[in-house]
Amino acid sequence: MKAIVISNSADVKTKPSPGLWHPIETIDIEKPVPKSNEVLVKISAVALNHRDVFSRQSLYPGVLPGVPLFADGMGTVTDAGSDSLRKQWVGKRVIVAPSRGWVSDRRAPDTSHFAILGGTKMLPVGTGCEYVACTNEEFVECPAHLSDSEAAALPLAGLTAWRATFTKGELPLNGPAKNVLITGIGGGVAVFAAIFAVHAGHSVYVTSSSKEKIDGAIERLGVKGGFNYKDKDWPDQVKKALGGALMDVVVDGAGADIATKAIKFCRPGAIISCYGMTAGPQIAYTMRSVLSHMDVRGSTMGSFAEFKDMVKFVDSHKVKPLVSHQFSLDDVEKAFLVMRDSQQFGKIVVTMTQSSSRL
Ligand SMILES: NC(=O)c1ccc[n+]([C@@H]2O[C@H](COP(=O)([O-])OP(=O)(O)OC[C@H]3O[C@@H](n4cnc5c(N)ncnc54)[C@H](OP(=O)(O)O)[C@@H]3O)[C@@H](O)[C@H]2O)c1
Repeated sequence: MKAIVISNSADVKTKPSPGLWHPIETIDIEKPVPKSNEVLVKISAVALNHRDVFSRQSLYPGVLPGVPLFADGMGTVTDAGSDSLRKQWVGKRVIVAPSRGWVSDRRAPDTSHFAILGGTKMLPVGTGCEYVACTNEEFVECPAHLSDSEAAALPLAGLTAWRATFTKGELPLNGPAKNVLITGIGGGVAVFAAIFAVHAGHSVYVTSSSKEKIDGAIERLGVKGGFNYKDKDWPDQVKKALGGALMDVVVDGAGADIATKAIKFCRPGAIISCYGMTAGPQIAYTMRSVLSHMDVRGSTMGSFAEFKDMVKFVDSHKVKPLVSHQFSLDDVEKAFLVMRDSQQFGKIVVTMTQSSSRL
């Protein structure tokens, strides 16, 4: 079968650098044969995450040429290893889980072999190919209201947002309504966090460096307001907008000075749920935060149990992921460039249609 990989000619051991750009290519690899406890999924669409761009810059650990790229994918079950699985699943649309080796522990991965799909030696499986074999704990049925592209957009960013917002951020799923700030709404995880929190009935605010993205979040995602984190006084602006109320939770992908800034508008005992550190690789935590009982919590990806909960929520609330760009397989390089140059607001999807002569 065909697979999109980092080219075998790439020297992935070169010094990591944003200036690097390892070539990708379509190669032939062996089609998986489902084991007795597996189904075979024919992939229809995949989505990009920042880690795919980092892989081409050697900025991601364990990058391995020849391994199918991408963690996100959806498709249709075409075969199964046992008759009962065949009866139950063949013909159904499914979404592939973006990682393996984390079943249900709420605190952290419960196995030592937790790994994310796509392009690495830690787990030589990715969605960027024609077929992926999955056990029962590696896929879920696709909600009927999602198109293939919307379903492919969901896995990694959706799961990361789900855990950061509800598990670690402790926002209630069924009220009471809380105030939540989501930083850097240009990011894929942040968009999902905003969509989920709005659907769960919370008052959602965002930050961004872009007025267009703030306006887009208000108009398209239903958030209450936004603030430009480049304005020196943005924390004062948040406080003013809350009109005497305080922020309960911050879902943060920026790191750096978020805790010292958030102290101005957070209630005592507020949670900062941090899933990334785009703005700076450490978070300053001062005595003022100690006295305020502020919790700063790390959050990354999520378990298969959380993945199932997320997809159930998406199904019951008829959540629609925001797809920013959609490309055919012929234009996969263009998809990478959009992500590298941060031109997206929402997810970038590549459809694996047969219309392409290369797959
Ligand atoms: N833990 C996980 O499982 C996981 C999964 C995916 C990503 N991540 C991490 O999470 C972070 C975000 O990733 P992503 O792919 O969602 O987004 P991304 O494409 O890396 O975008 C990050 C966004 O951060 C915003 N930003 C930049 N500087 C900022 C600052 N000083 N304050 C607030 N926001 C700032 C920008 O938002 P605007 O464009 O709106 O200005 C930018 O669009 C990265 O660090 C990534 O490595 C973690």
